[in-house]
Amino acid sequence: MIDPNSLPYYNPEVDRKVAVITGGNSGIGWYTVLHLYMHGFTVYLCGRTSHKIKKAINEITIEAEARLGLLEKEVDDFGKDIHLGSLRYIHMDLTDLKCVEKAAQKLLKLEDKIDVLINNAAILAIPYELTKDGFEIQLQTNYIAHFLLTMRLLPAIKKCHGRIITLGSLGHRLEVTYWNLNKKWDYKPNMIFTWFRYAVAKTASIQYTKMLSIKYPEVLCLSLHPGLVMNTNLFSYWTRLPIVGMFFWLFFQIIGYFVGVSNEQGSLATLHCALSPDLTPERDNGKYFTTGGVESKCSYVANNLDDAASTWIWTIHELKDRGFNI
Ligand SMILES: NC(=O)c1ccc[n+]([C@@H]2O[C@H](COP(=O)([O-])OP(=O)(O)OC[C@H]3O[C@@H](n4cnc5c(N)ncnc54)[C@H](OP(=O)(O)O)[C@@H]3O)[C@@H](O)[C@H]2O)c1
Repeated sequence: MIDPNSLPYYNPEVDRKVAVITGGNSGIGWYTVLHLYMHGFTVYLCGRTSHKIKKAINEITIEAEARLGLLEKEVDDFGKDIHLGSLRYIHMDLTDLKCVEKAAQKLLKLEDKIDVLINNAAILAIPYELTKDGFEIQLQTNYIAHFLLTMRLLPAIKKCHGRIITLGSLGHRLEVTYWNLNKKWDYKPNMIFTWFRYAVAKTASIQYTKMLSIKYPEVLCLSLHPGLVMNTNLFSYWTRLPIVGMFFWLFFQIIGYFVGVSNEQGSLATLHCALSPDLTPERDNGKYFTTGGVESKCSYVANNLDDAASTWIWTIHELKDRGFNI
């Protein structure tokens, strides 16, 4: 696992760095924001629930202050200084594409360059539902809304040869052959088919990151599986179910005990991809990483460029039909 202290620390007054992250108020995103903030970044937390984001900003600020003294000693060994960055809230509900568009416009007004975009937010294995834009809810939240956000922010990312980091998941491997994105997977039992819908969304996320790396070689585009992190809110639909929720909770805890990592360890792959000076667009563009920042391989389907191109074209058309020209 990478040591976040080994990553570059920036002084915002000398070298201002900007990061945009979706879903930074809980789980893996929370620790990602904490470390970016401690590395001197101005971080925009894009989320749908203002009180949750504001609470996270408060907690992260307190946690950073508490870690500062100890960290300054540790970081001294690497010959680095710590300057805290700043944390800002942007309203963005990924189930509403107009809201995503508006948020992107606001970000572009506030910042003319974005060093790192982290497409982190997601929902997992929830019942079938269509968004107001007419997409299956996991597909839109986990993939399509991030596609739109990325394309809108691209000019600002290109300006500084920035990075685009996409949170995939081990779960993408459930898509064992390429599945047409028009297929809804609205079958019963939900307990099984909802995972197929998650797999489609995560495969598409990895595919478009790969396509981005080819279309925009100057921007470093990476995707990753953060590890199995069982104490985030991702599993809460299951653990909050009446009666059976308790068993799911126990089941997830057992998995976590044997093969899981902590929420903070879950953020390390993202931090490595977002900050490591060892990664370059020339050598690493389009790669996939796993727990702790280890280079890995995604599934055959996610890696197949013909399938990735099909996903890309499908998405452009679907967005155009809804009035979003890419
Ligand atoms: N945990 C794992 O084991 C695991 C494994 C593989 C991959 N991942 C991936 O890691 C990433 C982070 O997951 P996590 O485990 O940290 O989960 P988490 O704690 O549930 O965080 C998910 C974040 O997404 C936000 N979000 C959900 N729907 C949204 C919407 N419509 N608009 C805006 N924000 C929305 C949530 O905001 P609210 O608080 O407002 O709901 C929350 O901040 C996800 O991409 C996930 O697929 C996790």
